[in-house]
Amino acid sequence: MTTPEPASAPSATLRPARRTAAVTSSAVREILKLTQMPDVISLAGGLPAPESFPVDALREAFDHVLATAGTKALQYSLTEGEPGLRAWIAERETKAGAPTKPEEVLVVASSQQGLDLIAKAFVEPESPTIVESPTYLGALQAFSVFGPTYRLLPTDEGGAIPEALDDIGPGASFMYLTPNFQNPTGRLISAERRAQIADAARRHDFWIVEDDPYGELWYESAPPPSLRAWAPERTIRLCSFSKVLAPGLRLGYITGPSEAIQLLVRLKQATDLQTATLTQLAAVRVFEGGLLERHLPAVRARYASAARVILDALATSMPEGVTWTRPVGGMFVWATLPEGMDAAEILVRSAARKVAFVPGAAFYAADPARNTARMSFVTVPEAKLREGVAILGDVIAGR
Ligand SMILES: Cc1ncc(COP(=O)(O)O)c(C=O)c1O
Repeated sequence: MTTPEPASAPSATLRPARRTAAVTSSAVREILKLTQMPDVISLAGGLPAPESFPVDALREAFDHVLATAGTKALQYSLTEGEPGLRAWIAERETKAGAPTKPEEVLVVASSQQGLDLIAKAFVEPESPTIVESPTYLGALQAFSVFGPTYRLLPTDEGGAIPEALDDIGPGASFMYLTPNFQNPTGRLISAERRAQIADAARRHDFWIVEDDPYGELWYESAPPPSLRAWAPERTIRLCSFSKVLAPGLRLGYITGPSEAIQLLVRLKQATDLQTATLTQLAAVRVFEGGLLERHLPAVRARYASAARVILDALATSMPEGVTWTRPVGGMFVWATLPEGMDAAEILVRSAARKVAFVPGAAFYAADPARNTARMSFVTVPEAKLREGVAILGDVIAGR
């Protein structure tokens, strides 16, 4: 008798759910792939500076946890998150002006997972969803799977314009925004505007989803209290340790009213059961040892210095008609090129001269301003930043 062997497989038709059609890969991504060669000056990345990752402290923390609580650290644990980490987060949020109990905290595999859970919990086909224009591309990707109808909140130098909420607020399910050093613009929303946004949310009865991965990365002074401090009964706040520790940890958290947290806990159970126990315990170890207090001042100083360099380089090298934001925290500058210019075409030409950035159109839910560009400046050495911006200035000027 012969032993059966696998036959060569015929092809099979993939039958994805209709909602996956909304998840597309952009043409720009293809151009950006070309720019990942080592000699390219990339302002495109959006990554935190690897020199800022606290490698030694994390190595000590993982070692300590494995040595002292090895089997616990490697076991399944609670969906809500490790009690010690939830308690530490609640205390830190409370100190920062948003009174928070541990049961109002859900530990997640970083904020992108939080966005996915929020999409699953609150976005239905055609549900009216307010987003800043422009906004974080990853949030649009998470929400769009469920087919919302976007309502665009206009922005200016001060970020989201609250007055517009009287037009687009009524009937909206929630508003998504990044109040601190926004990706992609670097803008900060003032205390006055936060109060107005909270007020509009109450008047028109919509919820606020506040995404805050950059709030700790201020240069001179801390941002105003979070939206959750202004409207705690209707704000779901997402935070991430990606930019203050390291993104490879995949660790972040959501805070909000406990009813909302419980709903998100059920959805997280269906997604991944829990966030990695070992990583959470290592985070508790570094936080309780005071790492952030020691570590963050250096990260802030480093980012502030890089911001000064790129702003100076832009002032030196950009031709007439180009304007840009002046971030007071975070990692992004947003440039507006002369009317009628297409940043995607500029990228093709600048990539040929080995300089990359992200054309701004990707960050709009609709009606993209094609003459915009996001520049990320914390992973490029200062001399290269100047060189890259000078080349970009030449390309924009047609030289
Ligand atoms: C505004 C915003 N939200 C969320 C994320 C996702 O970050 P993470 O999942 O690493 O926390 C990013 C990443 O760049 C971001 O810019």
